[in-house]
Amino acid sequence: MNHLIAPSILAADFANLQRDIEMINESDGDWIHVDIMDGMFVPNISFGFPVVNAVKKHARKDLDVHLMIVDPDRYLKNFKDAGAASITVHYEACPNLHRTVQYIKELGCRASVAVNPHTPVLLLDDIVADLDMVLIMSVNPGFGGQKFIQNTYKKLGDIRTLASEKNPGLYIEVDGGVDAANAAKLVEAGANVLVAGNSVFSAADQKGAITGLKRLRG
Ligand code: DX5
Ligand code: ZN
Repeated sequence: MNHLIAPSILAADFANLQRDIEMINESDGDWIHVDIMDGMFVPNISFGFPVVNAVKKHARKDLDVHLMIVDPDRYLKNFKDAGAASITVHYEACPNLHRTVQYIKELGCRASVAVNPHTPVLLLDDIVADLDMVLIMSVNPGFGGQKFIQNTYKKLGDIRTLASEKNPGLYIEVDGGVDAANAAKLVEAGANVLVAGNSVFSAADQKGAITGLKRLRG
């Protein structure tokens, strides 16, 4: 599978969000990564439904919604209605993860589970066959622009091994500190969806930065 790029609008200019969504529409980006933070699961608050609805109005690419919130079951239907194509919940936030995953699928969304940097991928052994995607956090969730954690490469290897046995079509997404310097190595290690916030939106040529992540070997 050719890898996908999901620019993260957490790093966009919220006063010019429509402009930034149009930039992604016109770019080589595949999905639009939408980070939802509740100030409880993570120490930061991002934005909620009115903003997601506004993004959806202009987006011509799938919304890849990443829920960094406690008890996400409460809001899955709302995010589906707001236009989510994929919904990612955190392993650490879901005591009844199997039920949560089934619910996301019943809603007609791709079901995805994220693991924090300290959470072993092997804990997904009994759920991976039910998933459309696993998101490997390569920073601690909560903020954009953080430093990439090197142990991520090892975790990508672990999930790739698990997936080749139990779910060969699995999307393996990596999120946090992704840039032109580590993208090729991440894909080589097993990632097939790259989320990128800061490295795209802080670039002078944002579309060019997305193209650079997409066409890794020229
Ligand atoms: C972090 C978020 C990321 C964030 C990535 O908690 O989940 O999606 O937007 O931003 P960068 O690419 O700047 O690390
Ligand atoms: Zn994210």
